Amino acid sequence: MPRKSVLDLQRMKAGSQRIAMITAYDATTARLVDKAGVDIVLVGDSLGMVVQGREDTLGVTMDDMIYHGRCVARGLQSAHLTIDMPFMSYQVSPTQALENAGRLVQEGGAQSVKLEGGARTVDAVRLIVEAGIPVMGHLGLTPQSIHALGGFKVQGRSDAESERLIEDAKLLEDAGVFSIVLEMIPAELAKDITAAVHVPTIGIGAGPDTDGQVLVSNDLWGLDASFQPRFVKRYAELENPMVVAVARFVSEVRDGTFPGPEHSFHRSRGEAKVARLY
Ligand code: KIV
Repeated sequence: MPRKSVLDLQRMKAGSQRIAMITAYDATTARLVDKAGVDIVLVGDSLGMVVQGREDTLGVTMDDMIYHGRCVARGLQSAHLTIDMPFMSYQVSPTQALENAGRLVQEGGAQSVKLEGGARTVDAVRLIVEAGIPVMGHLGLTPQSIHALGGFKVQGRSDAESERLIEDAKLLEDAGVFSIVLEMIPAELAKDITAAVHVPTIGIGAGPDTDGQVLVSNDLWGLDASFQPRFVKRYAELENPMVVAVARFVSEVRDGTFPGPEHSFHRSRGEAKVARLY
């Protein structure tokens, strides 16, 4: 089955079919989420927090995104692959943005790229789209502007902010984005933006009326029991089972019950000189 294209994704909005998007940062996760039938896999710069253990996404580099993009691309069969443009990879000039978007495609395996921001990004978006690289926009809480926004807060609560975000969505659509992520905005505003543009909107903390939803895979799996933001639904609680499994391994190593005979190789007459690993 060929990987989903941006045209397939846009047809989903036209056919009132909701889009499921999830993050992945490595080939194994990519294989699992692809098998589960997600439409878009995002190599998000959230990897700065969930993979690299940083406080925010600002230290993530182009080389990081390319490395994880490549890993994820190897695990996908049918999902579309979008890779985030990291902080300062597109803000300097539209030309810089195009060069880096090109690297994410050529070196990282992206089918499309995502960048954060409205009016201030439209020149970069237009140039990238003209070069044949599909772009996903990202409005609302834009984590790369965390210092300007004063923290990870809901955006668009006032009338003025709501109007600005609707305008930003229309500007992005005019510039050629194929889709827009709406992060942490009131549900009513997300519904208005979704009605105001023809391209699919994909929400995270933006209520039920967007054209799709995205979650960070680590959050969906409940890999960090202490992280409980309101917008995350945990579909599993995997932190404890994973810790318990490793604790059993530690205990069996210490008491000598692992490895057992079934996990060990033996010298025997007739056995091939090079034992197979599995
Ligand atoms: O970096 C990321 O994971 C994202 C999603 C939360 C949309 O941008």
